[in-house]
Amino acid sequence: MAISDFDLVFFGGTGDLAMRKLLPALYARERAKDLPATARIICIGRDNKTDADFIQVVEQQSRPHISSATLDADIWQRFCSRIHYVQLDANKPADYSRLVTALRNDPQITRVFYLATPPTLFSSICDALAQSGLATPNARVVLEKPLGHDLASAKDINAQVGRYFSESQIFRIDHYLGKEAVQNLLALRFANVLFEPLWRREWISDVQITIAEELGVGGRTGYYDTSGALRDMLQNHLLQLLCIVAMEPPVSNSADAVRDEKLKVLRSLKRFTPSTLAMNVVRGQYRAGHVNGVPVPGYRKEEDANPDSRTETFVAVKAEIDTWRWAGVPFYLRTGKRMADQLAEIVVRFKSVPHSIFVQPNSNSQPNCLVIRLQPDEGLHMNLMAKTPGDGMRLKPVELEMDFREKFKTPRMEAYERLLLDVLRGQLTLFMRSDELEAAWEWVEPILEYWEQQETDPIPYSAGTWGPAAASALIGRDGLQWREEALPEL
Ligand code: BG6
Repeated sequence: MAISDFDLVFFGGTGDLAMRKLLPALYARERAKDLPATARIICIGRDNKTDADFIQVVEQQSRPHISSATLDADIWQRFCSRIHYVQLDANKPADYSRLVTALRNDPQITRVFYLATPPTLFSSICDALAQSGLATPNARVVLEKPLGHDLASAKDINAQVGRYFSESQIFRIDHYLGKEAVQNLLALRFANVLFEPLWRREWISDVQITIAEELGVGGRTGYYDTSGALRDMLQNHLLQLLCIVAMEPPVSNSADAVRDEKLKVLRSLKRFTPSTLAMNVVRGQYRAGHVNGVPVPGYRKEEDANPDSRTETFVAVKAEIDTWRWAGVPFYLRTGKRMADQLAEIVVRFKSVPHSIFVQPNSNSQPNCLVIRLQPDEGLHMNLMAKTPGDGMRLKPVELEMDFREKFKTPRMEAYERLLLDVLRGQLTLFMRSDELEAAWEWVEPILEYWEQQETDPIPYSAGTWGPAAASALIGRDGLQWREEALPEL
């Protein structure tokens, strides 16, 4: 679907997200010829700058995030000619007149206000946009995470933004939903007949979802220390992945059909109580260690860190979904910084065959396992049992592998490219609806409250490992292992 002409306004337009992700994503779409000739990008900042000054900043801070293989002087020039700068303090309503002047006043032109700012500013920005007459029917508003700090603040954001914009104008970003492999998971489940009959408690033993990062928090301690792994990753990215794995087949790919099904999953998650929390949730914090052989400091020794911080940099949870399809199937969710590897994957483990006819002691039978790899390489792996060649019925697990990069040589799209295009097209399927956001917070809130009451430190783990031993014990109690623990040593 072609994109109609637009004015795209970035609040937080001089910030890290704009420079590292948003502008490079739009450059990529410029190169792909997706942007209409007269479309404009308006970046908001507090300093007094001309367009030319700001383009210099973009050259220095954003251009290095574009791969040199895709940089082309003419395309870059054309891209920069779309970029304008407006000086505005989000908290000063009078400043918005400069934005009014900068925008084209034509109802045919889509207006997007992308709020890449701390959420504390969302409400005053929306108030000022409305007072300036900018909250028009052709306007869309994009909200970047963190979308709240708890259920009450998430509800507050929904209410404040909802005063001026209808739900069909609000795009709540979870960039994991824009990842190619997540789209592929939808295709795998709903464009093939093979998996759906098996995709249930009768045949699936457990599901693991891991997002592990080698990076620490680096210079983001200011934000991270008020957030932690639960709010930063689990409440949004991990729960969204869980929804895509667990949801019932939607009737169509339309926004509300998909979001209705995701919402049902969130609402069916078994609620934690203080007695179930202790057994089913592990929180950790990294100490000094080695990542890829390089020594790295502990979380409390990061730049500007609080030396007594209790913020978790690792969380593992055993979740359960109270539905006929999933009752009794554990979903183990895990994320952490400074882990042993950089990877994001979903592991669906099937049950053992009901009766084995191969009884030799060394037949080495293993249940089937489907791994959906999101990063670093996107792909699918399926473990099957096969007979080894030669005499006797000796079985061995073999892998069917599909590497999406190998299979499809076409250029990849970054998550933000896809999501920005969807915003510009008005396509809401990959964005969270208000009720989804609140349902996700409702489920994590008992965990947050429990931790606050505990007044204990998270369990330390050495940087460069897979997190605290308690995370292995969490899954071990069910007689299972995390995938990396179950893999044979190379
Ligand atoms: C962000 C978190 O939402 O996702 C970061 O705030 C995290 O802490 C990042 O590093 C991970 O995203 P990706 O796409 O690099 O896996």
